[in-house]
Amino acid sequence: MNVNLASKLRQSTGKAHTMAENSAFMKCFQKGVIKQETFRKFSACLYFIYSALEAEVKRHKDDDVIGLIHFPEIERKQNLEEDLKFYYGENWREEIKIIPECQEFVDRIHEVANNDLPLLVAHSYVRYMGDLSGGQALKNLARSFMGLPEDKGTRFYEFDALNSIEAIKEFKTKYRNALDSLPVDEVTAQRIADEAIRVFTLNMNTMHGLEDEVKASVDEQTFAQIVSVVMPGSTESHPHQQMVSSK
Ligand code: HEM
Repeated sequence: MNVNLASKLRQSTGKAHTMAENSAFMKCFQKGVIKQETFRKFSACLYFIYSALEAEVKRHKDDDVIGLIHFPEIERKQNLEEDLKFYYGENWREEIKIIPECQEFVDRIHEVANNDLPLLVAHSYVRYMGDLSGGQALKNLARSFMGLPEDKGTRFYEFDALNSIEAIKEFKTKYRNALDSLPVDEVTAQRIADEAIRVFTLNMNTMHGLEDEVKASVDEQTFAQIVSVVMPGSTESHPHQQMVSSK
């Protein structure tokens, strides 16, 4: 069945992606004003999200749809554990706490895995394709604004099995081909695209849950200045691109 799911997902989530890029948390991240205390909480959120996502994908790896997007080589949980050990120490499991917005995200992952399995594809797509795209630039930003020691604290952004820009690019093509090969009909493809927009919202809500802390660590004027800048979307088609492609 060919429903061009990869391009459908990119297109449907273009606006949501622009909104995510324009979230206060992401803008502050890009301006390097996130403190380590907040960043480690963000890493803890990602740990809860990936623990749920990877457990569910693994549990359903023999499913006709989910099996095709089961790629153990890109799993993030192990790397997040290394980051959390670095930030919180050996007792990190007792130290980390889940915030309500993140709990809602985790609950949704289990809900779709139990009741509407094909929608789990949307959760995998938004997280992994994001980490393999804009996420790669965020790594160097985080390293410089927190002045981290070599190889510590940003293991989340490192894909040991994909250790060059070319390898990442190749994997993204493989992932998109896998999306296009899923045995889903048009209606299901549309529902996966709708769920992907919801996943963006769940991500934004989670970041929003940490926003007060970011705000408190910067002076009011700087915060207002950073959030007032509007970033053009990286994946949304812009009017000039549409003009070029409609020729
Ligand atoms: C500062 C924030 C961000 C920047 C600068 C950024 C940048 C980018 C860029 C440049 C691409 C295009 C890569 C390509 O065409 O190969 C991309 C793709 C993507 N990003 Fe982001 N991103 C950001 C935040 C996010 C967030 C918060 C999420 C969701 C959690 C996300 C999810 C995605 C996804 C799913 C794609 C793949 C789109 C596709 O080709 O289907 N991004 N991002």
